Amino acid sequence: MKKISLWKDDAKTSSFAPLQEDLHVDIAIVGGGITGLTAAHLLAKAGKSVAVLEAMRVGDGTTGFSTGNLYAIVEESFKKLQFKFDKKTIQAVADSRTAAIGYIENLVRELAIDCDFHRRPWRLISETDTYDKILEKEYQACLDVGLDAHLDSVAPLPFNISKALRVENQAQFNPMQYIKALAAQAQKAGCMIFERTPVLRIKEGSPNVLYTENGTVTASKVINATHSPKGVRFVHILLGSYREYAIAVKLNSGDYPEGIFWLIDKLHHYSIRSYTSSSGENYLLVLGEPHKVGHKKDNEICFKNLENYIRARFDVKSVDYHWSAQNYKPADGLPYIGAVNHKANVYIATGFATDGLTYGTLAAMIISDLILGNENQWSKLYDPQRHNPLKSAVRFIKENIHVFMDYMKDIPYQAEVKRFSSILPGEGKTIEIKGEKFSVYRDESGELHQVSAVCTHMKCIVNWNNEQKSWDCPCHGSRFTVDGQVIEGPAIINLPKREDNNQH
Ligand SMILES: Cc1cc2nc3c(=O)[nH]c(=O)nc-3n(C[C@H](O)[C@H](O)[C@H](O)COP(=O)(O)OP(=O)(O)OC[C@H]3O[C@@H](n4cnc5c(N)ncnc54)[C@H](O)[C@@H]3O)c2cc1C
Ligand code: FES
Repeated sequence: MKKISLWKDDAKTSSFAPLQEDLHVDIAIVGGGITGLTAAHLLAKAGKSVAVLEAMRVGDGTTGFSTGNLYAIVEESFKKLQFKFDKKTIQAVADSRTAAIGYIENLVRELAIDCDFHRRPWRLISETDTYDKILEKEYQACLDVGLDAHLDSVAPLPFNISKALRVENQAQFNPMQYIKALAAQAQKAGCMIFERTPVLRIKEGSPNVLYTENGTVTASKVINATHSPKGVRFVHILLGSYREYAIAVKLNSGDYPEGIFWLIDKLHHYSIRSYTSSSGENYLLVLGEPHKVGHKKDNEICFKNLENYIRARFDVKSVDYHWSAQNYKPADGLPYIGAVNHKANVYIATGFATDGLTYGTLAAMIISDLILGNENQWSKLYDPQRHNPLKSAVRFIKENIHVFMDYMKDIPYQAEVKRFSSILPGEGKTIEIKGEKFSVYRDESGELHQVSAVCTHMKCIVNWNNEQKSWDCPCHGSRFTVDGQVIEGPAIINLPKREDNNQH
């Protein structure tokens, strides 16, 4: 079994060189996912000088680890949005998301992007009548916004269902192939792309200054396209960070179903789709098992749970891939897209939940319009400074009770072990040494990797992620390698290294 996303394994590695000099551009974009590269393409095409600075490789963030589904519906459901927003707002959400899918489709056709884009139906399935009412309400909500919705009692799946809500004319693609092609097109339009170039600090001003290891970029405008914006911002207390798990399996018999399937299970849903790789192999993908980042002790069990779930429903031959990724849920159900520092022209795009291939595209459309001075009918709707405490209250309280509890863990004598000898090879544990918490990992060869356990974002204590072998912050989702390097999330500074050899 490969521990990598099917999309990443099936794509060629991109080869943009790291930044090695100082430069000045109109617009610096931090992050080469679907948000950053769509904006880069739009702005470079409009004649702006643009540089994309990507810490890893293009698509190596969440974009290349997603499901590749494009739909106007939202993870939270239109029905739930109806409790917080009026009809006009929900119509605008559906229209803007439909426009973003249309934008992707047009680009795929215009540039002949080979990314397996197809219009497909989206289905929400209840396997027992327990969830039929949810489906019926969502069906009405879909009709209200003019989607081509139907209620069925059958679906092209090899097991019995109670009801299916079907929405026609949604879409699927291979997100990694799309993003790589988009990067090539942005470069053709004059955009500079630098991979393996983490931005280490952003000084906002006129101009903005972005520091990297081997070069400094000055820019009159900055787009934070890093999924969760870097640094300490108000928006972080409005976001809940969640990890989700995926496996790709082959079947012994039976058809690989076409389209997007969300199967309701308690409060969440499992997402199922098929994909044929470039070498002609068929796979069935299943994603689910969400939990708050840094909140699950044994998270490897999530893959086993996914496998059991899919084996109970399909004739599975082998599990070929597994991976995980994270998303950020917004407090009021809508993402935060637009300027956060009007004076310095700094923009953010976050809070996409698991709907961000569409929202990321929409964010790029909105931000590039704002930068180019074009009217955009949806910019107010998603404005990051729109904060409405009433609409956000439920999730805000829930997420911040978690954050408060995690701060409380930073009291003395709460370490997991007292001695290094209690940490087995492959394990990570928190240990307290002279009043300071260390995060200590023992690798398979027995060597210890010691870093500070205090998250460099807002000082919560990081927890061990045994599936990814990383230190994950339970407060706002920053993640770090065993040697302290930032992987993702709002933190921008690495966990400082520590060394104590007396604690055996
Ligand atoms: C399991 C899962 C399945 C999903 N499936 C779907 C789906 O089917 N449909 C859908 O619409 N949405 C889906 N989503 C959500 C969607 O994938 C994301 O919202 C979207 O990909 C976010 O794109 P992005 O460009 O904003 O961020 P990313 O793709 O995460 O890109 C951000 C980039 O910024 C880079 N970066 C970070 N820090 C720095 C730094 N300091 N310097 C330089 N670069 C930096 C990262 O390396 C990364 O490449 C899914 C999410 C998950 C977790
Ligand atoms: S991510 Fe905010 S404190 Fe760690």
